Amino acid sequence: MSNDFSKYINRIGTDSVKWDSFAERYPGLDSKDCIPMWVADTDFRAPQEVIDAIVEKAKFGIYGYPKSKGDTFDKAVMNWIYKRHGWKLSKEWIVATPGIVPAINNAIQALTQEGEGVIIQPPVYYPFKQTITKNKRRTVENLLIYDHKSGNYEIDFDDLERKVKEPNNKLLILCNPHNPMGRVWSETDLRKIGELCLNNGVLVISDEIHSDLIFKGYKHTPLGMLDERMNQNNITAYAASKSFNLAGLQTSAIIIANEEIRKKYTNQLEINCMGSINIFGTLALEAAYNHGEQYLTELLEYVEANVDYAIDFAEKNLKGVRIIKPQATYLVWMDFRGTGLSADEIDGLVIERAKIAVDLGRWFGKEGAGFARFNFACPRSILEKALGQLKSAIDKL
Ligand SMILES: Cc1ncc(COP(=O)(O)O)c(C=O)c1O
Repeated sequence: MSNDFSKYINRIGTDSVKWDSFAERYPGLDSKDCIPMWVADTDFRAPQEVIDAIVEKAKFGIYGYPKSKGDTFDKAVMNWIYKRHGWKLSKEWIVATPGIVPAINNAIQALTQEGEGVIIQPPVYYPFKQTITKNKRRTVENLLIYDHKSGNYEIDFDDLERKVKEPNNKLLILCNPHNPMGRVWSETDLRKIGELCLNNGVLVISDEIHSDLIFKGYKHTPLGMLDERMNQNNITAYAASKSFNLAGLQTSAIIIANEEIRKKYTNQLEINCMGSINIFGTLALEAAYNHGEQYLTELLEYVEANVDYAIDFAEKNLKGVRIIKPQATYLVWMDFRGTGLSADEIDGLVIERAKIAVDLGRWFGKEGAGFARFNFACPRSILEKALGQLKSAIDKL
């Protein structure tokens, strides 16, 4: 391996949300004795080519207003998405936006009215709901179904059909792959979702931020690639931030093939004064997409090995804990309900006793109570320490 992901890099005191501000969220915990495995960034350095590109630009010393995104940005996005997923994008579909949550926020404002329904599929990345609520839209929940036997989550299509048929519901925010449990939606699922939305006047935002992080045996399908009609009813959100650890550079590539929708979206960006790009963000995305393939291959191998290690450890040592094996992402959804503890006790077990800062399951929707989302994008030594702390906490029950 040319990238050494096993190396521990001290991030304490580097203005990292994950390492420096969890005490605000988890009173009583501090960086000295707690392992942060919550926020979805990695504890790894970005690819060297990204670092070099940023350093080179930084050395210039003038950081004035940039012109709008150029050909190199579009080319990098188009090549990457084609190489990774086989989807041929047109240059004019690509809109650079400062981050994906801001893009979703902007799309909600541009394409729905106050009081209208926006469908999400909990348990799901909780900023979706926060964004809907802050914009005074109505959150409509199409709950995923948990199959205990397979440990898989499935879409409740009967319920989704009912929800898309309600005339007040205008938008679905799809998470593919799905955060928190790393589910890669199949082509069959996506076709069904696409058809249901298309036939009932519901627009889809397909958040594909985790689509680089697909494990062996699975394949990511962009919803917009399936069918031109669906592409015209779809906004797809990509970013290099999860895979290459660039979240602090706040840059995303939003794909909108439908010209009318794109105009409304870009107009809203201007209203929100968000039309400008970050010079380092676009540069980093380009360097990552142009040169990051080997890094990504090695990252996936490392993270998958972390997942396998943890599953094996849990089977042998963590009584009552089930790790839902992710098909994608470094985010790992763990079911603690087999411990027999209440949901509140489970939160206390992980946070206060094991001293691991995680995203609590209930943040993703009430169905997530009793679960926790761990971030495994860390050196193995950190993971081993965390699992050891979890074992001690469980053994003491
Ligand atoms: C599904 C999903 N969408 C969006 C984001 C955040 O994107 P951004 O930082 O570009 O707003 C995350 C971060 O964890 C995520 O998991």
